[in-house]
Amino acid sequence: MKKLVAIILAAGEGTRMKSSLPKVLHPLCGKPLISWVYDSVKNLNPERVYIIIGKNHNSIRSLFLKDKKIVFATQSKSLGSGDAVRECEKYLKDYSGDCLILCADVPLLSTDTLQRLVSLHRKERNTLTLLTTRVNNPYGYGHICRSLDGDILKIVEEKEANRWEKSIKEINSGIYCCIPNVLFPVIKKLSPENKKGEYYLTDCVELLRIRGEKIGSLILDCPEEVLGINNRKELATIEKIVRNRILDNLMLAGVSIVDPEHTYIDVDVSIGQDTTVLPGTIIKGKTKIGENCRLGPQTYIEDCSIGNNVEIRASFLYGNKVASGAKIGPFSHLRPGSSIGEKARIGNFTEVKKSKIGAGTKVSHLSYIGDSILGKEINIGAGVITCNYDGIAKHHTNIGDKVFIGSNVNLIAPIKVGKETVIGAGSTITKNVPAKSLAIARSREIIKRNYTLKKRSTTHREGKFKK
Ligand code: UD1
Ligand code: CA
Repeated sequence: MKKLVAIILAAGEGTRMKSSLPKVLHPLCGKPLISWVYDSVKNLNPERVYIIIGKNHNSIRSLFLKDKKIVFATQSKSLGSGDAVRECEKYLKDYSGDCLILCADVPLLSTDTLQRLVSLHRKERNTLTLLTTRVNNPYGYGHICRSLDGDILKIVEEKEANRWEKSIKEINSGIYCCIPNVLFPVIKKLSPENKKGEYYLTDCVELLRIRGEKIGSLILDCPEEVLGINNRKELATIEKIVRNRILDNLMLAGVSIVDPEHTYIDVDVSIGQDTTVLPGTIIKGKTKIGENCRLGPQTYIEDCSIGNNVEIRASFLYGNKVASGAKIGPFSHLRPGSSIGEKARIGNFTEVKKSKIGAGTKVSHLSYIGDSILGKEINIGAGVITCNYDGIAKHHTNIGDKVFIGSNVNLIAPIKVGKETVIGAGSTITKNVPAKSLAIARSREIIKRNYTLKKRSTTHREGKFKK
């Protein structure tokens, strides 16, 4: 079997994105553009993948830190795709196999298409094989010029094309298979004398033809796969295509998506059978969701692990673990580092931050639980606040199993409440409370009899006692 390596071009400025983030790091359904391309290449099992990045692109490097297959090369100035490929010459001097060259901004490209491109390249013994397709609106792409016999003559970039060339609907996908040690000497001959002042990789086609090298092409029937992303409008268009595919796959696997037009699920999310996702729900990152859950409407879940039979209504969850049978919302906010136990209940207008809520515990209304560990089967009344911050440091709250805390209690952390204890409503608890006790910390009620209100003005009222 002949050897295979790949070069991914990612050093372009991406100016049309108008962004401080490198274009190829913009996420598409939760995965950076370049990772889409890299994953489809990786499945072909190439020996090495060279990624060409710009000099300020360390963030791209850090995305692939652990991958031993990748070699990064830096293109110090964006002088064009031809110049970018040249950065790999030093690595491929003695290499005799085939090489795929890909742009990093074509996320829909499939492994199957790449495999077909390599196979055709080998079967026809080409020096260069282009992946092309026909589109209704070829504006912005490189146009494929062929002879009357159908042989490829050259690629003309949009900016350089005359009226006739601009009307050619067969376009260059920016994806090629080549024999690198024939290509490199030709790249050296490229000239930047064009409208963009760049070394166009595409100019190699004409130079190779003049040298008598064999150039072939695989023409894709479906152009969708090679749609490039150059601006945010194109990103949104392609994201919609990918999003629909993700939702279709989930539905076919037994997940109910009530309104696919208004449901947004990232590519790395997994959802179990018989779970229902209601409209307005966004599920992001590496979230895992079990079976038979009911999510939404209007819910945001990011990087969470959710068990079976969980119900989450109109809530925001980030980086949480939610065990089976728990009920969240409506209007709960679960901040990173919180875990919710089996059959626990987090109710309306409750915020939980860096806390562990035990199985069967209920925090049903209007509470703030921060930096706390709550045991099992606790009842937290409405409006209970863990006062975890003294202005300088954060402090912990510990509450034992089966504690009952009345409404509107302030727990001034650091504080411990022993198990099976009862705390009276309205208390402000500043000292640890031992197990199986009753704590009440509120001022006594005063009752003054025969009290009526006396009207003094329209805005002030004052009480008066009858003698
Ligand atoms: C390129 C092709 C065009 C093709 C289109 C398909 C060229 C000259 N043109 O045009 O024929 O139809 O892709 O989408 O190649 N890059 C670098 N260094 C640079 C410049 C670009 O690494 O100095 C990388 C970019 O990061 C990108 C790729 O090369 O991944 C293509 O660059 P881009 O500017 O997007 O080229 P297009 O104008 O889309
Ligand atoms: Ca492009």
